[in-house]
Amino acid sequence: MDADALTRLTEEAIAAIEAAQTSDELEQVRVTHFGQKSPLRLAGREIRDPAAGKAFNAARQAVENSIEKREEALARSELDRRLAEERVDVTLPVGGWERGHLHLITQVRREVEDIFLGLGYRVVDGREVETTRYNFDALAFPPGHASRSPLASVFLDDETVLRTETSPSQIRAMEAQEPPVYIVTLGRVYRRDTPDATHTPTFHQVEGLAVDEGITLADLEGTLDFLLRKLFGEERRTEFRTHYFPFTEPSIEAYVSCHVCDGSGCPVCRHSGWIEVGGAGMVDPKLFEFVGYDPERYTGFAFGWGLERIAVLRHGIPDLRELWRDDLRLLRQF
Ligand code: DAH
Repeated sequence: MDADALTRLTEEAIAAIEAAQTSDELEQVRVTHFGQKSPLRLAGREIRDPAAGKAFNAARQAVENSIEKREEALARSELDRRLAEERVDVTLPVGGWERGHLHLITQVRREVEDIFLGLGYRVVDGREVETTRYNFDALAFPPGHASRSPLASVFLDDETVLRTETSPSQIRAMEAQEPPVYIVTLGRVYRRDTPDATHTPTFHQVEGLAVDEGITLADLEGTLDFLLRKLFGEERRTEFRTHYFPFTEPSIEAYVSCHVCDGSGCPVCRHSGWIEVGGAGMVDPKLFEFVGYDPERYTGFAFGWGLERIAVLRHGIPDLRELWRDDLRLLRQF
């Protein structure tokens, strides 16, 4: 091969290298112009004299330098392009995040707490795991009472039960202080109930307790009347019917005039005009004896209502289980 041909092949190769726009293109060019079977390489094999060898080495060096330079340039510009294209603009607003809100049960719970804090009550915690002594004995449940059965309640052992109601908190609250007592305590309770539209095996109650000198049934009814109007509307009327609980005497059940039909009768109140809200009564003196309060000196009232029940009644939710399903389409409405 003569020197002119070598120069021409070299210049062609360098021109092609400089024209390559991507690393892939550059690799193609390298194979074509500088690969094992390229004219330049083939020419190299035919060299027989030192002068031609020197010229060939210089040409090869020039092509290699050119490839290296082009590689670097392409890598740099590809990096620049990726940096520009894939840049995350941290100053952009992060649209699309919805702020959540408290579950309806928590809302009702806080609402009830606020109502009673406004009346001067304290909010106290109880225990979800209770002894049978506090859950049943202290509350004067007779030995054969149905809720003492493992078929009705969740026992952890013979003497330990997931509380079936918040009422044992009454005993703990009284043991913790001397009268006067004005407390509410809210939380979960557990029963072996098969879930249906009006039952879930775990639910929430609010328990209230007032113990002082001279407390009467009128105080209880006035307090519940106030509570029901706050929860269901100022125009509501209340009614109290006799009932039975082991730990109150007398015992009553509270009713509120239906907030949907205002008493004229509708499906929500089952055409009675009244909605049953929950139990209450005057604290049985047996409880005072258990905690060491003087039953001759003190009287008191108590009540215990389901928070889910308040929520479904007030908002017309047809099935109490919905509150445990976490379906956002429902929960977002409240
Ligand atoms: N503990 C009762 C229940 O779960 C509700 C109840 C009724 C609580 C009367 C009370 C009360 O404090 O005085 O069915």
